[in-house]
Amino acid sequence: MKFNFTNIVVTSIILSGLFFWNLAESDTTKPLKSKSEFYFKMKSVEKGRFLVKQLGCNDCHTAGYLQLKGNVPENKWLMGDTIGWRGPLGTSYGSNLRLFVDTFKEEEWIKMAKTLKTRPPMPHPILNAMNNEDLQAIYWFIRYLGPSGKPVPDFKPNG
Ligand code: HEC
Repeated sequence: MKFNFTNIVVTSIILSGLFFWNLAESDTTKPLKSKSEFYFKMKSVEKGRFLVKQLGCNDCHTAGYLQLKGNVPENKWLMGDTIGWRGPLGTSYGSNLRLFVDTFKEEEWIKMAKTLKTRPPMPHPILNAMNNEDLQAIYWFIRYLGPSGKPVPDFKPNG
C-alpha cells in the first residue's frame, strides 16, 4: 500500500471507527463492574490519604515533613527519610514505602502488615491492629502515589 493522502485518510477513519466501536463494546459488556471497581479504588485512595495523614506515617517516612510542619506536596510523601532514628540498638531509617509497597499484591500487603515486626521507633502495633479495609485503603493510596525515590540507608547497629 502506498502512503498517499487517500490511504492515510481511509486508514484513520477505519482506526477511529475501531476505537469508538471498542469503547462502545466495553461499555455495553461490563459497565457496572468496571465503574464500581473504579469508584471503589477512588474511595480507597481517599481514605488511605486520610489515614496516612492522621496516623502520622509521614512524620518518619517523608523527608522534611516534621521540620516543614507537614508542608510537603503529596507527590513527595512516603519516599523515606535519610535522617535516622538513633536508639540503644542502633540507627534505623523510615523506609521508602513507595518502593516497598509496590512489591506486594493487595492480599500479601494485608498479611504482611498484620504480622510486621520492626525495630523502633516504627509503631508496628498500629499496623498489626488495623482491619482489612483500612490496610487496603493505605495500600491503594501508596500504589496511587506510585513507586518513586531511592531506598533509604540500611539499619546501622551501634558501635
Ligand atoms: C516514629 C516514626 C515512624 C512512624 C510514625 C511510622 N513509621 Fe514506619 N517505619 C519507621 C522506621 C524507622 C522503619 C524501619 C524500621 C526497621 O529498620 O526495622 C519503619 C518501617 C516501616 C515498614 C517496613 C518497611 C520495610 O522496609 O521493611 C512499614 C510497612 C511501615 N514502616 C509503614 C508505616 C505506616 C503505614 C505508618 C503509618 C501508620 C508508619 N510506618 C509510621 C518509622 C516510623
